[in-house]
Amino acid sequence: LSGYVTLDIGYKNTGATKSAITFLDGELGILKYRGYPIEQLAEKASFIEVAYLLIYGNLPTVDQLKAFQNELTHHTLLHEDMKKFFDGFPSKSHPMGQLSSLVGALSAFYPESLKPNQTPAEQNQSIIKMLAKMATLVSWIYKKTLGHPVIYPQNKYDYVTNFLNMTFGQRTEEVEIHPVVVSAMNTLLILHADHEQNCSTSTVRIVGSSESNIYASVSAGISALWGPLHGGANQAVIEMLEQIKEDGGDTDKWIAKAKDKNDPFRLMGFGHRVYKNFDPRAKIIKKACDDILEKLGINDEVLEIAKRLEEVALKDPYFVERKLYPNVDFYSGIIYRALGFPTDMFTVLFALGRLPGWIAQWKEMKENKEPIGRPRQIYTGAVNLDYVELDKR
Ligand code: SDX
Repeated sequence: LSGYVTLDIGYKNTGATKSAITFLDGELGILKYRGYPIEQLAEKASFIEVAYLLIYGNLPTVDQLKAFQNELTHHTLLHEDMKKFFDGFPSKSHPMGQLSSLVGALSAFYPESLKPNQTPAEQNQSIIKMLAKMATLVSWIYKKTLGHPVIYPQNKYDYVTNFLNMTFGQRTEEVEIHPVVVSAMNTLLILHADHEQNCSTSTVRIVGSSESNIYASVSAGISALWGPLHGGANQAVIEMLEQIKEDGGDTDKWIAKAKDKNDPFRLMGFGHRVYKNFDPRAKIIKKACDDILEKLGINDEVLEIAKRLEEVALKDPYFVERKLYPNVDFYSGIIYRALGFPTDMFTVLFALGRLPGWIAQWKEMKENKEPIGRPRQIYTGAVNLDYVELDKR
């Protein structure tokens, strides 16, 4: 090897890039987008404001926000031929598999994204189309889970309301989206919008570093997010809580299973590669949980089980020694379920929220003219073997 390689499997201590987008401090539980604390953005901003902030680097003025929203509004429609592609998915196919395929297919319908060395204006058009069309795709996937017809976007709505209307709207009647649902969706999407160099964002950056187009890069990020150790955890948390409920709600038994090295069971929604103290997003979502369920008049038994699990785990030496705390996925599924989403849609909603972060990081990587990503390795395989003829093996 020219020079030498330091081995850091899983990139636990490797700085893969320089970025001005998101700052997080795992010890202090701090998360900031472009310098603004997540607590303030979650409380005061809209998701589209935060998307603008992440992608363009500043909180938008009134005119900038209006222009951005107008651009998005005029690109929410999907090419009708996408339907032929979409209709081919079996109705029970996992929403994340549909989403990664559909997003990758966008380059077939919007080939200008394939132009090498796009001008900033051309790149921005591809970015707008990616952000605008994702909401429509997610709503289509939700309608498929019900066997219902898709609902078209309406220009009178803002981005999140449009998404919710395409999702929960009906062809047969005008459906009023509850303001609590709009506000909860904005908060959840903001909390998921970026998180520095996590697995899926690093995937988007490394795919983009080969000059792959925005759709191919985001499609790869969706695939990385799908895993139960990453974004797929929000689905796994609800499945785990349901399993504990079915099993009589004995949280001590399941905590013991999570600690048992001979048992593959992990407490899903617990632990984090960076946060070795609380995940600030989990704190906000936990509070929002109580608020939203109360306002919607929903009493979800699994919320009580989740709270008991957290209470017991935070006192247990196994979790304390390993600094395992609830992460963003621990409570988010309870809200998604209260809003009416089926469990296997949760990670798709995580992807919708994370999209502005993926876009911002992809754009920054290109602006910084970063080289193609190509890590090295420590080789541990056989050396100097000679070929053995088939009849002599
Ligand atoms: C997300 O990176 C990001 O920023 C991701 C994310 C984002 O916004 O993009 O924040 C979103 O992916 C949140 C994480 C969601 N995943 C889960 O909730 C799945 C459950 N959690 C774990 O699998 C785990 O905690 C990870 C994957 C999140 C972190 O894994 P690490 O950093 O590689 O830590 P590890 O697996 O080496 O665990 C360290 C120790 C081990 O025990 P020992 O070998 O030291 O005895 O902690 C134990 C692990 O066995 N451990 C757990 C546990 N998580 C870690 N034991 C029981 N239950 C758990 N959940």
